[in-house]
Amino acid sequence: MVRETRLAPEDFIYPLFVAPGNGLRRPIASMPGVFHLSVDTLVPECAAAMGDGVGAVLLFGIPETKDARGSEAWADDGIVQQAVRALKRELPDLLVITDVCLCEYTDHGHCGLIEAGCVVNDATLPLLARTAVSHAAAGADMVAPSDMMDGRIGAIRTALDEAGLANTALMSYAAKYASAFYGPFRDAAGSAPAFGDRRSYQMDPANRREAIKEVKLDIAEGADIVMVKPALSYLDIVADIRALTDLPVAAYNVSGEYAMIKAAAQNGWIDEKRAVLEMLTGIRRAGADIILTYHAREAARWLLLRDG
Ligand code: PBG
Repeated sequence: MVRETRLAPEDFIYPLFVAPGNGLRRPIASMPGVFHLSVDTLVPECAAAMGDGVGAVLLFGIPETKDARGSEAWADDGIVQQAVRALKRELPDLLVITDVCLCEYTDHGHCGLIEAGCVVNDATLPLLARTAVSHAAAGADMVAPSDMMDGRIGAIRTALDEAGLANTALMSYAAKYASAFYGPFRDAAGSAPAFGDRRSYQMDPANRREAIKEVKLDIAEGADIVMVKPALSYLDIVADIRALTDLPVAAYNVSGEYAMIKAAAQNGWIDEKRAVLEMLTGIRRAGADIILTYHAREAARWLLLRDG
């Protein structure tokens, strides 16, 4: 009765990796329990997640081929576009969110176009907008740009509206830090930068005021949900953003955070269930309404057992 913070399956967004192929369920070594799925295995995985009470998924695409511009990102028959069509056909009540970024699709692994060895911000914006429009046209309910280029929320919102897709919502990775905790994801997505790092577009972990600035800009440009990423080392930022805006706030419990729990649990060093629920409760207590987490299904099942 006196508990201040509650955790429920409907707070979770379940991130999934979709890859070409048939009957694919390829384990990702650094993320035990997470797989590369093909469209035909993705659909039952999402149906099972809904059965556990999880209502929303976030799709990352692993394309067949990569090039300098990341053109598979906006291909009409791209892997994410195919997956979205299948999911909206088979599971119309599932909320389908897509990751909008170029890093999984570029051969250099950066989130934007490269000119003279640098990631160029403004030239990248039309490509991100094109990607978002193609996801939305395939049926995505929400798009989630994770590239951290300046001005992309405005560019994507304008492009969606002009394409007659005004009802597609926008979740912004608004305060995304240049973090070591993305390591396992970059293995999973094959998106580690081939040269340099992402510090010219992602944020310095030492900066707190800058998060406020980034979030204010994205709200002004039309974000519907603002996200802080990663979650655990940035709970003060989650609390700051909660205080700043009335928009829903999301926090991304990223791959490295997931991998640490799994590794410790596999060694018998922590009680996995208690650790996961404590961690997710902490993210909610800091102020997140929504948590993106690879633990979504198992946490949802544990919560149902606890309540049942
Ligand atoms: C792509 C992207 C990344 C993640 C989500 N979208 C990796 C990165 O920025 O390098 C990380 C997710 C995770 O670690 O779970 N820009």
